[in-house]
Amino acid sequence: MKRLEGQYAFITGAGKGIGKAVASLFAEEGATVFLIDILNEVNEVADEIRGQNLKAESFVVDVRDRQKLKSLVESIISQHGKIDILINNAGIIRDRTFLKMSDDEWHDVMDINLNSVFTITKLILPHMKESGYGRIVSASSINGYVGTFGQTNYSSSKAAIIGFTKSLAKEVGKYGITVNAVAPGFIQTDMTASMPAAVIEAGMAAIPVGRAGQPEDVAHAYLFLASREAGFVNGEILNVNGGVYA
Ligand SMILES: NC(=O)c1ccc[n+]([C@@H]2O[C@H](COP(=O)([O-])OP(=O)(O)OC[C@H]3O[C@@H](n4cnc5c(N)ncnc54)[C@H](O)[C@@H]3O)[C@@H](O)[C@H]2O)c1
Repeated sequence: MKRLEGQYAFITGAGKGIGKAVASLFAEEGATVFLIDILNEVNEVADEIRGQNLKAESFVVDVRDRQKLKSLVESIISQHGKIDILINNAGIIRDRTFLKMSDDEWHDVMDINLNSVFTITKLILPHMKESGYGRIVSASSINGYVGTFGQTNYSSSKAAIIGFTKSLAKEVGKYGITVNAVAPGFIQTDMTASMPAAVIEAGMAAIPVGRAGQPEDVAHAYLFLASREAGFVNGEILNVNGGVYA
């Protein structure tokens, strides 16, 4: 029996990187996956998944666009009746030391990494409450704990995800809904590829398991937290960092 058979999963930032790996893994585990991304590439990801005889639908939407998201959630609910799993994964970096950081660099990161999580969770949660079941898992980061040079915006957004997760978990656990987060360390994706080579080298050298993380490493952590079996894990932040910070 597949672990997510018959379930519906709404995954943001599924056009590449970790979100794409989550979408593929969840589909392999039997879920119907709804892939949301600002990039058109998300359509190819859904095509690839459907090419394996698995169930995927893609939507090119900016996670800041509340109106479009509202219509999308309503249309999924009217067609399928429920959304079991929400993966709040979309995220960006706009690195700059604080003294040089522009208002846009601050607000773009907050809007995409944090405020969209408020918007989307608010749209989907009432439906989970109605069905008496839900799994919400969001993307925090090791940087939300430790802080990083040049990332006051990003680290703040990822620390806020921890507070959001722990607080909401206390509110909605009684409805059969769990709220958790993953906190990845250094994972090889386009996001980290844009960092200076010296920073990447130093980061890699500090990883006890002796390799960089891959999107699939994080996808398996999401799968655990999104599974039925994780029903007694609530308000947890799961580190996926090879032992750098534990
Ligand atoms: N890669 C890492 O080392 C790492 C570490 C810790 C946390 N994270 C977090 O994991 C998540 C995924 O990161 P990744 O490394 O796969 O990054 P990535 O850049 O490879 O993928 C992010 C995805 O989010 C999408 N996205 C960005 N803005 C969007 C918007 N406004 N609307 C819809 N989609 C949007 C992008 O198009 C992209 O497909 C992010 O939240 C990131 O902060 C990553």
